[in-house]
Amino acid sequence: MCGIVGYVGHRSALDVVLAGLRRLEYRGYDSAGVALPLDGSLLVERKAGALANLEKQLDDVGRDRFTGTSGIGHTRWATHGPPTDRNAHPHRSASGDVAVVHNGIIENYLPLRAELEARGIWAESDTDTETAAHLVSLAYTGELGDGETKGDLPASVRAVARRLEGAFTLVVTHADEPDRIVAARRNSPLVLGIGDGETFLASDVAAFIEFTRDAVELGQDQVVTITRDGFDATDFHGDPVEVSPFRVTWDLAAAEKGGHDYFMLKEIEEQPSAIADTLRGHLVEGRIVLDEQRLSDQDLRDVDKVFVVACGTAYHSGLLAKYAIEHWTRLPVEIELASEFRYRDPVLDRSTLVVAISQSGETADTLEALRHAKEQKARVLAICNTNGAQIPRESDAVIYTHAGPEIGVAATKTFTAQVAANYLVGLALAQARGTKYPDEVVREFEQLEAVPQAVEEVLESLGAARALGQELAPSKAVLFLGRHVGFPVALEGALKLKELAYMHAEAFAAGELKHGPIALIEDGLPVVVVMPSPRGRAVLHSKLLSNIQEVKARGARTVVIAETGDETVKPFADHLFELPQVPTLLQPLVATVPLQVIAAEIARARGYDVDKPRNLAKSVTVE
Ligand code: F6R
Repeated sequence: MCGIVGYVGHRSALDVVLAGLRRLEYRGYDSAGVALPLDGSLLVERKAGALANLEKQLDDVGRDRFTGTSGIGHTRWATHGPPTDRNAHPHRSASGDVAVVHNGIIENYLPLRAELEARGIWAESDTDTETAAHLVSLAYTGELGDGETKGDLPASVRAVARRLEGAFTLVVTHADEPDRIVAARRNSPLVLGIGDGETFLASDVAAFIEFTRDAVELGQDQVVTITRDGFDATDFHGDPVEVSPFRVTWDLAAAEKGGHDYFMLKEIEEQPSAIADTLRGHLVEGRIVLDEQRLSDQDLRDVDKVFVVACGTAYHSGLLAKYAIEHWTRLPVEIELASEFRYRDPVLDRSTLVVAISQSGETADTLEALRHAKEQKARVLAICNTNGAQIPRESDAVIYTHAGPEIGVAATKTFTAQVAANYLVGLALAQARGTKYPDEVVREFEQLEAVPQAVEEVLESLGAARALGQELAPSKAVLFLGRHVGFPVALEGALKLKELAYMHAEAFAAGELKHGPIALIEDGLPVVVVMPSPRGRAVLHSKLLSNIQEVKARGARTVVIAETGDETVKPFADHLFELPQVPTLLQPLVATVPLQVIAAEIARARGYDVDKPRNLAKSVTVE
């Protein structure tokens, strides 16, 4: 959360930084700001609210004043201090010569602030970030430490970084140093873009791919200085470090709306290719191969328990992993919210495989959960959509979901891609352990490969889901019911509705209905029911059919998601969405799609921005 951009080059820094912030706004939109060194001072503008507010303010003050060719920018997801103008980044030192943007949390900012107050420097904002600006300025003037940092911006930033605790990417500009920008990184993302006579810094490559595809990934606890001719990276003590260059392969169109009103709607439609691309290359000569496999077949054979850790939507995909992996491998699988797992004493050892699922690869809870698992010698396999992010870097092996950039804050295509990747893990384990014959593994994989076509069919028949979204917009609450693999789908449908439409939405395992939740049913309450296939386990189908009747008898307005040809549900469905026939374990991949669309349409009908739901950010790098 929080997006940061830095630029040194030959173009208008204001234009480049604003273009970058536009592409990073998914990381937070509580405020935005820029700082540019010019003629020995800093031009700083910042404004609460979306980037558009800052752009208007820049128009008011006159953009032509900002002629510099280096600068920094920030788009904020508030942690410390409310989203106001005074808490917006960049933050300046008391002297006015240093400006800083920050992503993360400086955990020891209170004692640092007390130290600054003892020097007569009083905070102007409620943020943790401001302390860093004052400290860098003091280091630069030689007033901090032994004076060796005097007049040396990289050394000043290193000295301050050594004193900070927590997670941070800090990007610093100095009024007297228009030709370089310095950044420090610990536990928050930072990538460099290397252009011709220009260098970029950002939280995500999306900020600069318009200008260059040559990128460099920085490691932990590193400080980098960029100039128009390149960069210099060191550790926090000034020793040179190795960095990893890479080339960005996805193109700009993938990060743009492609004719849709919202990124999320485009991303829902991209699910067939997200699933297909995630599966591609994983079946080689009749065998499942996991990407960048650093787990041998023997390692997989040694596994005697699987733990899945994740948050939010990724957690819902993990719930599905449990059904598939247990079914295919007969291994016990536990799934837990990463934020709970890390504070427990889970029973793990070197034969436990921990699967950490994260779209962003940055989620602090999931990162800490994987570290907790590694301390106990478990092997960690990451499932991630972001090349080189921290979670895959710290894992023993990784499967990348190739869903492409997901800009809408609510996860859609990365969810279905994660489910596909989870199933790959299950098939690889079944293959290595011999719980499935090789031809069975191939058959399961081929069924997975057929899913994108089934999702296409769902996408072609979404008109009714859109209309229903409009109709349900005035409702106060919606309940979701599912059993077996339909339960995680129900949870995901409810989460989408909460986060996009700010509507009370609850999902229940349908078997729990009579243990309490049925008391909620009242006349007209919409209840969405995810029906299992009648061709699967008959008992599941008949139980859920009874549940629909129970809620209908109490006045609920039933919205039923069922397989095409399931005639039995028709008498009890006020609204029916028919899904193509797919095997039971794969049904979530098609059943989630109408729920995503209904949630988005309700949100639109209520007048909300579906790409940027309130209070949320795309990557949650704080706990
Ligand atoms: C919901 C959503 C969140 C994320 C969760 C984990 O639409 O996007 O619930 O799924 O914050 O994020 P990642 O997958 O980046 O670890």
